[in-house]
Amino acid sequence: MARTSLQWLILLTSLLTSTTNQASLTVSPSSSQMFEGQSVSLSCEEDDSSAGWTLRRNTTRETRTQCGVDWATTAGSSCNISYMDPLESGVYWCESREGATSNSINITVTGGPVILQSPVLPVMEGEDLTLTCKTKTPSNLPAGFYKDGVFIGNEHEGHMTIHHVSRSDEGLYKCLISSVVESPPSWVSVTEKPKTTRPPTSAAPPPASDLLHLVFRLVVHLVVFCPDTISTIMVSLY
Ligand SMILES: *[C@@H]1O[C@H](CO)[C@@H](O)[C@H](O)[C@H]1NC(C)=O
Ligand SMILES: *[C@@H]1O[C@H](CO)[C@@H](O)[C@H](O)[C@H]1NC(C)=O
Ligand SMILES: *[C@@H]1O[C@H](CO)[C@@H](O)[C@H](O)[C@H]1NC(C)=O
Repeated sequence: MARTSLQWLILLTSLLTSTTNQASLTVSPSSSQMFEGQSVSLSCEEDDSSAGWTLRRNTTRETRTQCGVDWATTAGSSCNISYMDPLESGVYWCESREGATSNSINITVTGGPVILQSPVLPVMEGEDLTLTCKTKTPSNLPAGFYKDGVFIGNEHEGHMTIHHVSRSDEGLYKCLISSVVESPPSWVSVTEKPKTTRPPTSAAPPPASDLLHLVFRLVVHLVVFCPDTISTIMVSLY
């Protein structure tokens, strides 16, 4: 009996929490800069498809235009652009019918021969930041990296890794090949580490005290947010 009611509680709670209305935008290839002519696929990964999430963008020429209507073609749940044009540089995001928005992503398309590949999503404090300076025709030329216009280092393979980033690493990055050919700049944001630090999760089942704590939280959750459900459960238990 105790076990079945616990399963009930877990099921109910997961149903309740799965209705939060959120989406996240992903881009493939995952790069904030692209060469002209590259193809790209963008998709809104949503919790609730009935919320009518659409992909939109602002460019220098248009605002809030929708994928599949004003530009690009929809391919299932994603939006494919077969030929990126420099005019398609801008900010891309997903928006629900009610106006909720996802994370936004800045994409810069260049007609030039060099791009800086930087993370499209904010980097969390303490993580590593990898920057790649890439030429349109593969080369082994050394790359110089700059942050906010200041030279920060030369890398022979074109990759630079900044270990354990902090908020001060946030800024506008670019790279130069052979000190002459320059990439467009891209903004890299660094987000604060969440305050609640959890111990590493183990594969072992949680100890009984954790389970009790979980059950307690579920019950509190149900009592606070769902008095009708809890009374139904009480009735069915007794
Ligand atoms: C897009 O442009 C509109 C109109 O200028 C502006 O209100 C909105 O904040 C922009 N969206 C993003 C994500 O930058
Ligand atoms: C859209 O892009 C994805 C990922 O690159 C690819 O798998 C898919 O075949 C593309 N669809 C169309 C219709 O081009
Ligand atoms: C997009 O670029 C603008 C200008 O560089 C910057 O202020 C903004 O924070 C960037 N947004 C994201 C999501 O990186």
